[in-house]
Amino acid sequence: MAETNVTMEKIVALAKQRGFVYPGSAIYGGLANSWDFGPLGAQMRMNIKTDWWKRFVESRPDMVGLDGAILMNPRVWEASGHVAGFSDPLVEDVKTHKRYRADHLIEEATGESVDGWSLDQIAGKLKELELKSPEGNALTEPKAFNLMFETAIGKTEESKANVYLRPETAQAIFVNFKHVLDSTRKRIPFGIAQIGKAFRNEITPGNFIFRTLEFEQMEIEYFIEEEGWEAHIEKWADDMEAWAESIGIDGDRLHRLEVPEESLAHYSKRTIDFEFAFPFGTKELWGLAYRTDFDLGNHQEHSGENLRYVDPNDNTRKIVPHVVEPSMGVDRTLLAVLLSAYDEEEVNGDKRVVMRFKPHMAPYQIAVLPLSKKEELQAGARPVFEALAPHWRVDYDETQSIGKRYRRQDEIGTPYCVTVDFDSLEDKAVTIRDRDTMEQVRVPIAELERWFAEKLSI
Ligand code: GAP
Repeated sequence: MAETNVTMEKIVALAKQRGFVYPGSAIYGGLANSWDFGPLGAQMRMNIKTDWWKRFVESRPDMVGLDGAILMNPRVWEASGHVAGFSDPLVEDVKTHKRYRADHLIEEATGESVDGWSLDQIAGKLKELELKSPEGNALTEPKAFNLMFETAIGKTEESKANVYLRPETAQAIFVNFKHVLDSTRKRIPFGIAQIGKAFRNEITPGNFIFRTLEFEQMEIEYFIEEEGWEAHIEKWADDMEAWAESIGIDGDRLHRLEVPEESLAHYSKRTIDFEFAFPFGTKELWGLAYRTDFDLGNHQEHSGENLRYVDPNDNTRKIVPHVVEPSMGVDRTLLAVLLSAYDEEEVNGDKRVVMRFKPHMAPYQIAVLPLSKKEELQAGARPVFEALAPHWRVDYDETQSIGKRYRRQDEIGTPYCVTVDFDSLEDKAVTIRDRDTMEQVRVPIAELERWFAEKLSI
């Protein structure tokens, strides 16, 4: 596994320079904490999502997928508890008007958690500690700040209806539970998976793509009988860890945290956070919650619809299923994969930066490089690209010296470079360079597809 010589400065700079992540709206001076994913970042997000979907949906008979709408009837968020309870305690610097999480300020000052405290308790503690803003100014009284973004549907002021941008993808799954059950005939235990954007008006976004206002989630609601929920949560925890390892997240930097009762989300009876040692601190990468029958029960009550599940072995037994929820952010996953892959080493007195991605996560798996821009080499290299590109993600690069191109491919984590040289025109063979070992082998062009099929199968 890669050395932990990585810093956020190095990752942010490499991400921008090589086209993984750019600051959002940059030509207009940017928009704080918004990020755009460049060619390589877009590809890696796709790789992460495709692999997740393959592993947790396509490979399992007990899982199906869903793609719900971002805008939902506002009553969904009343039933889910988000209108009443999805808030953080906000204070404002009276001079600069910068906003802070009051709980974080107290925790930083005392080193103790104030999770589960009421606003009054937090206000009392702020007074007792005589806390000021980081700029040394007085703070406003704390108020509950709901994290949901509100927007309006409708043409005129009078006719418009307020709706929320979803703060989690999960609710579309609960709302469609009965549809999926009726249309697929699935029996519990079974799960519904969804990948999609979520939005939160975070008071303190930051740390690159770690905490943003707009992000993407990969969520599963796994419907179960209440009895035996503990075994399901253990199994899912193992499955999540196994996936982390399979996509190259450094296991030494990942651990489970049993979330204390007072810190549990309003819907959860037990939560395991998967924390990752980011350069800015050890923080939540993913969550796994036992949401009981909280959501389906509430939606049944608020909507008046019957969301019970009929036991196929006993038609008289009707239950509201319980739920175990593995929830993973695409953006944090990408960040953990980037940080885990980053490595530096010295080669012939020079620093070599290598992203040691697993081949199925790498933006490109192969780079085809004619030794120079000479026409006959281009003519030799293009058919090689064309033969490989239908099967793998292949870059084609004929700029700069071959040494510089190797370094560039190392920095973007391409596992193999295929060099077409003058000998290739004669012996119909190419040189393949391995990213990690830098060893080179000569392989006949006719055997390339078989060679890579062996190396790049997962
Ligand atoms: N449905 C449960 C749920 O949303 P959560 O712990 O609030 O639980 C799940 O979010 C995951 O979504 C987190 O573990 C993280 O990976 C990602 N996530 C949450 N808020 C985020 C933010 N502001 N920016 C980036 N990712 C975020």
